[in-house]
Amino acid sequence: MEKITLPKASQLTSPNPVTVVCTQKPDGSTNLATVSWWTYLSYNPGMIAYAMAKTSYSGELVRNDKRVILTIPGAELRDVVLGCGTTTGRNTDKASKFKIQLAEVEGSSIKIPVHSRVAIVSKLKEYHEVGDHYLYICDVEQVYGNEGEEALFAWNGYAQLRPAK
Ligand SMILES: Cc1cc2nc3c(=O)[nH]c(=O)nc-3n(C[C@H](O)[C@H](O)[C@H](O)COP(=O)(O)O)c2cc1C
Repeated sequence: MEKITLPKASQLTSPNPVTVVCTQKPDGSTNLATVSWWTYLSYNPGMIAYAMAKTSYSGELVRNDKRVILTIPGAELRDVVLGCGTTTGRNTDKASKFKIQLAEVEGSSIKIPVHSRVAIVSKLKEYHEVGDHYLYICDVEQVYGNEGEEALFAWNGYAQLRPAK
């Protein structure tokens, strides 16, 4: 083996998971951000975690509001998920900009992309500083799934998005 960097390791572990983190802005609209660094933590009780750069708007929103929905984007969103991962929602409505159709989720005012394979409705339990990111640890409240949507993954590190098959 040869010595490599952590970013290089993430290329070697491709395909990597992809989620779209959905949070609510103060005006009630939904912000969408692409996040690969997430994991299941516990089934009983249901818990998940994800890491976001300290500067992300999504992080600011979840630290204030506590509510977040992690979604696994369907293949139809292939062309727009990169956009959600390269634009901040601080002064842009990404759903409008990238023409992403949103759906209501029962019991939540945060919307999610219609083409989602999984949606994990969660509440922020705690967060921790981890280097240049915060790690958000969340309790899972509800989980929804649609096997008809094919999941997207990140290839070549995080450079391209396409299904795993
Ligand atoms: C494929 C892909 C994966 C990404 N994964 C992460 C991640 O795990 N954590 C993170 O902080 N940013 C990640 N990003 C970058 C954020 O999505 C990006 O900083 C975004 O602009 C944040 O939006 P916000 O400011 O509206 O929250 C990823 C971007 C792409 C394209």
